Amino acid sequence: MRFWPLEILVLVVTGSSVLCESSLEGELPTSLRDNFLEPISWSLFHQREANNVHAKFSLRKPSLPDDDICYIVPGEEETLGNCNFNNTAKTFLVIHGWTVSGLFESWVAKMVAALYGREKDANVIVVDWLNTAQDHYIVAAQNTQKVGQEVGRFIDWMEDKANIPLEKLHLIGYSLGAHVAGFAGSHATNKVGRITGLDPAGPDFEGVHAHERLSPDDAHFVDVLHTFSRGSLGLSIGIEQPIGHVDIYPNGGSFQPGCNLRGALEKLANLGLIAMNEAIKCEHERSVHLFIDSLLNGEEPSKAYTCGSSDMFERGMCLSCRKNRCSIMGYDMKKVRKARSVKMFTKTRASMPFRVHHYQLKIHFTGQKKQTEIDPTVMASLYGTNGSVENLHLKVDGKITPNKTHSFLLVTEEDIGDLLMLKLRVEDSSNWSASSLFGMVQSWWNGESSDSEPQIQRIRIRIGETQKKMVFCLKFYQKANLSHEATFVKCKESWRKSSKRTRGRSIEDTEVPIYR
Ligand SMILES: *[C@@H]1O[C@H](CO)[C@@H](O)[C@H](O)[C@H]1NC(C)=O
Ligand SMILES: *[C@@H]1O[C@H](CO)[C@@H](O)[C@H](O)[C@H]1NC(C)=O
Ligand SMILES: *[C@@H]1O[C@H](CO)[C@@H](O)[C@H](O)[C@H]1NC(C)=O
Ligand SMILES: *[C@@H]1O[C@H](CO)[C@@H](O)[C@H](O)[C@H]1NC(C)=O
Ligand SMILES: *[C@@H]1O[C@H](CO)[C@@H](O)[C@H](O)[C@H]1NC(C)=O
Repeated sequence: MRFWPLEILVLVVTGSSVLCESSLEGELPTSLRDNFLEPISWSLFHQREANNVHAKFSLRKPSLPDDDICYIVPGEEETLGNCNFNNTAKTFLVIHGWTVSGLFESWVAKMVAALYGREKDANVIVVDWLNTAQDHYIVAAQNTQKVGQEVGRFIDWMEDKANIPLEKLHLIGYSLGAHVAGFAGSHATNKVGRITGLDPAGPDFEGVHAHERLSPDDAHFVDVLHTFSRGSLGLSIGIEQPIGHVDIYPNGGSFQPGCNLRGALEKLANLGLIAMNEAIKCEHERSVHLFIDSLLNGEEPSKAYTCGSSDMFERGMCLSCRKNRCSIMGYDMKKVRKARSVKMFTKTRASMPFRVHHYQLKIHFTGQKKQTEIDPTVMASLYGTNGSVENLHLKVDGKITPNKTHSFLLVTEEDIGDLLMLKLRVEDSSNWSASSLFGMVQSWWNGESSDSEPQIQRIRIRIGETQKKMVFCLKFYQKANLSHEATFVKCKESWRKSSKRTRGRSIEDTEVPIYR
């Protein structure tokens, strides 16, 4: 029986292959390892370094996004004319990643069609380096530099022969293809307009020097989507570190909704390898579909919010955008001035269209010192002019502490219109000291504590998508069996009136000491 350290096991995934750089503790079941995990001898890599790298450039047609019918061949100028290359239009280079099958994955045609859908005159060129990409992951990873050089020479040639303006050149690379795009950009004589990295590959690129991976130096604007960066389980296919001018981490950059990786990992030991392969592909490739979504649903774009960490974003602390202008995820993203390695976050739906609506709730809990910290289960319901969403779980991160403003993030898939009413419900989900919990929550909400002072009077809300701010006041409070419910409506009193006592400073300025 052979035992291989998990660090050097390569996990072969149907449809797309990924390296499993795992820190899962212990050994995987033997049968699983023998069937699916292919041990690699390191000396092999160095012997097998391929040197016949060869990239082909297929100019696809809007009517046949799936077919390679016309190749542009560097050095053969007539191929530009033969393929009806439009040298005043935008040019896209779509660059695939590692492959097991040696075939294009189905997203390539979808991307081509979506690009033509948005830019009908454009030249959408698929860079075909399938031959090289088919090798062992680590060999393929090493070859990204050579492929990139070749693409860089192609760019120089196009600039020289077709006079294409490089600011209209946009490279879109997925996984290893993102690093190919980076090398292409750094090898081209003049700087290209934009590179979009779609979940750039992590293994062999995480932590290396900027010259050895995609970096902000490779184009005037480098934007990156991270959908499968290292999760809590130590499995990282996409690169985790920010490597562009702007790096967006949808859903924290791991565990994309609808992919069920967590479930697959839990079942891994008995049956889950196929489910897991699908989940991994789903997470990694989500970056591609988010970008395609941004092309197809440009009129209702997903917004992304600058934030220091995923944790802070999850607590709703980052929904305010500079000058109320939020960044748009995907194709319509604009370069942020002087930005470099700016991290942005957003939540998404499980399928296209991915956009959601983000709400920040700021609640100030006042209370007496004898009250202890509590950790309740709180459900929120939102009612708007055009619909409602009920029973959203309000993630209480840690404990609720008296005399502190707590910030929460709520997300709705539907557009409920203008928000009219908000309900909060606390339930006895645990067996823990229910009576003292309820006593305390009740006192917060209706002021029936011994000191009889209203404890939550208002909730301040900011909507990420519209940047609207509003204040909601307690309307009534209801106790039913094991749940307590408080209803809040838009305050009648004006915002200014309530902040008069602070001499013109808004409530926000005075009540938000910890989240500013
Ligand atoms: C080339 O692209 C430009 C837009 O950049 C467009 O106005 C023009 O009609 C295109 N030419 C042809 C022949 O399609
Ligand atoms: C919260 O503030 C109020 C009023 O300032 C004070 O009476 C109360 O003791 C404080 N509670 C805690 C737990 O510090
Ligand atoms: C209200 O919702 C309906 C269906 O849910 C939708 O068709 C309509 O466009 C919405 N109106 C507004 C103003 O959002
Ligand atoms: C509360 O539930 C936990 C398990 O969820 C149990 O171990 C504990 O004994 C329970 N405590 C009481 C007071 O029932
Ligand atoms: C309260 O509990 C009783 C029985 O436990 C149940 O019949 C009743 O429907 C509950 N009321 C509400 C409002 O949930």
